[in-house]
Order: sequence, then C-alpha cells, then structure tokens
Amino acid sequence: MKVELKNTTKKLCVIGDPVLHSKSPLIQNTIISALGLDYIYLCQPVKREELPRWLAAAKAAGYAGFNATMPHKEDLVTLMDELDEDAKCYGSVNTVCIKNSKLYGYNTDGRGFLRALLDEGIDPAGKRVVLLGAGGASKAVALKLVQAGVKSLVICNRTEEKAAALCAYSDVMSTELFDPASLRRAVSTADLLVNGTSLGMDGGGGQFDDVSFLEALPKAAAVCDLVYYPAQTELLARAKALGHTTMNGLGMLLNQAIFALEHFTETDLDVPKLRALAENALNVS
Ligand code: ATR
Repeated sequence: MKVELKNTTKKLCVIGDPVLHSKSPLIQNTIISALGLDYIYLCQPVKREELPRWLAAAKAAGYAGFNATMPHKEDLVTLMDELDEDAKCYGSVNTVCIKNSKLYGYNTDGRGFLRALLDEGIDPAGKRVVLLGAGGASKAVALKLVQAGVKSLVICNRTEEKAAALCAYSDVMSTELFDPASLRRAVSTADLLVNGTSLGMDGGGGQFDDVSFLEALPKAAAVCDLVYYPAQTELLARAKALGHTTMNGLGMLLNQAIFALEHFTETDLDVPKLRALAENALNVS
C-alpha cells in the first residue's frame, strides 16, 4: 500500500509481541488514505519487558498514539496518566493517545463488538446470553453485554475459576462448565451464543471437539464468533446449517479500529462506510 508522507505526518502504530501478523496497519492506513488524513500507521514489535522504555521513546519520538495487542493490554493500565471507563472496567488498554507527553488509555474492544451486533440487527438488551471463554476478549465482550442490559449472561470456560472471577462484575452473570453436557444445558435457553475462545481460529487456535451442543440452542437464537479468520468457523457453519443468524468477529475487529482512530484524530467517523472500505481491503474469506 502506498502512503504519502509529509514532514508534518503524525505517527501511529500497533505494538505487540508477536505483532507482525497484525491487520491493524492495513485497516488503519486504508482508512487514513481514504480520508486524506495526515497520519501514518506502523507495526512495532515490543517485548513485554521493554514496554516502559518504549513508552518513553514513543513520547520522545512524537508518536500521536498507538494500539496494543498481546502481551501489553493489561500492563498498560498502570502506566497511563488517564483511563477511560471501559479500560478501567476491563483492566485492559487497547488504544493510547499521547498528548503533551501524557498517556490517555482507552479500550474500544467492547464497543466494537456491541456496535457490530447492533449493526447486524441483534440487540442484546433483555436477552439471555451464553459466552464461551473468559480471556481478554471475552472479558470486554462480557462486561459490555452486561452494560447493554442483557437479562442473563452465562460464561462457560475451560478454566472455571476465570469465568467465576469475571462474574463478580454483576449479579446477572453466572458460570457453567465447558464439557458437552454443560454446554448443551447452558445454550438450551439462550437467545444469543457468543464464542470468545480461540477455538476455530486458523493458526493454532484448536477446534471444538464437538459442536453438537448447538442442537440444543433454540432456533431463534443468533450465534456470534469473535474469530474472523477463517470468516466461517466450524461453529458458525454448523449454526448456519441449523438455521441460526450468524456473525463472525470481523465487525468487532474493524469497529474497534475505527473507534481507536476516532480517539487518535479526535473526530467522529462514518463507521459503516469506513468498515465497508476496510473490509474490502482485508478481503477476508
Ligand atoms: P484473547 O485475548 O483472544 O481472549 P486469551 O486471553 O488467551 O485470548 O483467551 C483465550 C480463551 O480461549 C480462554 O477463554 C481460553 O480458555 P482458558 O481460560 O481455559 O485458557 C480459551 N481456550 C483456548 N484454548 C482452548 C481449548 N483448547 N479449549 C477450550 N478453551 C480454550
């Protein structure tokens, strides 16, 4: 991709370890170029132990901001001068703006997911939701779903203690085990099922041993996967075959990126239009 650089061009990047596989530079530079913004978005590997030193270097080098992926999202929390409500609530930062050498931390993951759901016509308010997973992405999704007014949220995770810890956030949350019988029982009264585990993801995410628990899910329920590559996981393919509305994780990925760019540029952006543009550039299949 060709990006025009000027002496005034402001620097943004994504940091992580590993990070070279990240789609963020392609998404952000596509949008930056389409809007004619004077920014460039780079990819910067940063080792976990190097984070404080890198933050000082980013300030000195005049970075306008950056996004963060594993392993930095939690570590960034205590290193910020200010945090937004979502970053505080999740204990995780995915977007940092640098202004006058001060660090402002945000988390756009939960908002990105909720916006993607609403854009699919799925309003979680008043719904009974089952969430598979209790890792970083699941936490943002779980807490945003509670804020959006779900009636109940059952978290099924391989490591039950992690699900139980998440449930301290709200009385509407409870846990179930991750074995086939428990999953079947949990989904049998659900209006919405979300997979927040890495199962189904290309590149070593592993696969569900068995997705037959979907047969117990009421037919009107929607099924969402936070995985976006492949575009259709085995879980979504089976759900679709059973007649459920399905949604993959691409909308969340793109929306959280657009919301991050809104923070960097301090402007409101046309989310659906830019999402379509970036989706086209990614060409996920
Ligand atoms: P992310 O930031 O993408 O959420 P993560 O924090 O590492 O990544 O979380 C990965 C999620 O996938 C966790 O819920 C994890 O379950 P554990 O908490 O038990 O580790 C889940 N996961 C990963 N591999 C799994 C597997 N083989 N079976 C079931 N769950 C799995």
